[in-house]
Amino acid sequence: MLATAKEAKAAGRVSALHAAVTGVCGYVPPDVLTNAALAEMVDTSDAWILERTGIKERHILKGKGLGTSHMGAEAVRGLLKKTGTSPSAVDCLICATTTPDFVFPSTANLICDMVGIRNIGSFDVQAACSGFLYALTIATQFIETGKFRKIVVVGADKMSAIIDYTDRATCVLFGDGAGAVLLEPNRDYGIIDTLICSDGAGMPHLHQKAGGSRMPPTAETVAKRLHYVHQEGAAVYKFAVARMADVAAALMKRNHLTSDSIDWLVPHQANKRIIEATAERMKLPLERVMVTIDKYGNTTAATIPLCLWDYEGKLKAGDRMVLAAFGGGFTWAGVYMTWAYGSR
Ligand code: ACO
Repeated sequence: MLATAKEAKAAGRVSALHAAVTGVCGYVPPDVLTNAALAEMVDTSDAWILERTGIKERHILKGKGLGTSHMGAEAVRGLLKKTGTSPSAVDCLICATTTPDFVFPSTANLICDMVGIRNIGSFDVQAACSGFLYALTIATQFIETGKFRKIVVVGADKMSAIIDYTDRATCVLFGDGAGAVLLEPNRDYGIIDTLICSDGAGMPHLHQKAGGSRMPPTAETVAKRLHYVHQEGAAVYKFAVARMADVAAALMKRNHLTSDSIDWLVPHQANKRIIEATAERMKLPLERVMVTIDKYGNTTAATIPLCLWDYEGKLKAGDRMVLAAFGGGFTWAGVYMTWAYGSR
């Protein structure tokens, strides 16, 4: 279905060109961490995790010297192969991640090197679990202005590197993975509207206390376990339920969408209950909601491209979808787009 002129106007669009997703590929590492295995590490149970979060298992990247770039590169290699895109044809690569291999250089630079993409602009975006939608929003501007024709947008996180596996309230939630999409200009289909938001006052509820410039690493910060995710689950939950639904509702309102006109909700996968609350606010039946949390957990910036990858076979050109995410920062973001192709 074409984006109507009314929709384009509502979204403040000036370009006739859409940035369309023309391919998607995901990667999860082979090692699986089940709820039963976690119950042997901390005081929890399969029943508690499943009931409170919807997660059954998650994948963990093991192997010396393997960081987020390894998973990102696997996803990008698969994407280039399945879309028949030569590395030399890529104009720009953006990687959303909160767990970069290094403070610098960027993980995007490393991925380019690993897959043979040379001499282009590549950079990281950090907006925690909203990172992929932030990166997609940035990439969209380059396509709409005509500056670039092929952009690879990656969402990748090795959360296991910053999770405290003695903290039962957080270690059950996260997994590792990566997803990548190819973004190209399209006159008929693609991204119609984007919304990115943040509120820095949320920092105390969700952050990593040490390892940055405010508290550089020392033997003491390591001993105090300050290099892991600090999350006040209940406070984050309250915020997440409100904001993810808010962003979806705002996109629906300003694009004149009803629940009948949306084919898919593609939500960030942090907690099945948060996903269900968002779908309820949109009045969308769960059959039209992408859910992968049961098998991957929360893979931070990777959840949304992993959803698209998982559901790709069910998607048709013209399907209308609302993508919505929230995360540390606090950050939240949404994208309204039409899918550009049938299953590959
Ligand atoms: N197993 C068993 N019991 C547990 C576990 C566990 N894994 N974790 C917590 N509990 C206990 C708590 O200790 C507490 O016990 P108490 O009542 O005796 O004190 C009880 O369960 C209830 O704890 P709550 O925190 O109230 O549990 P809740 O139902 O809120 O679920 C959860 C916790 C799953 C963390 C939820 O709050 C949540 O999903 N929060 C949002 C997390 C999120 O979305 N993060 C996203 C951002 S990530 C990013 O941006 C990087």
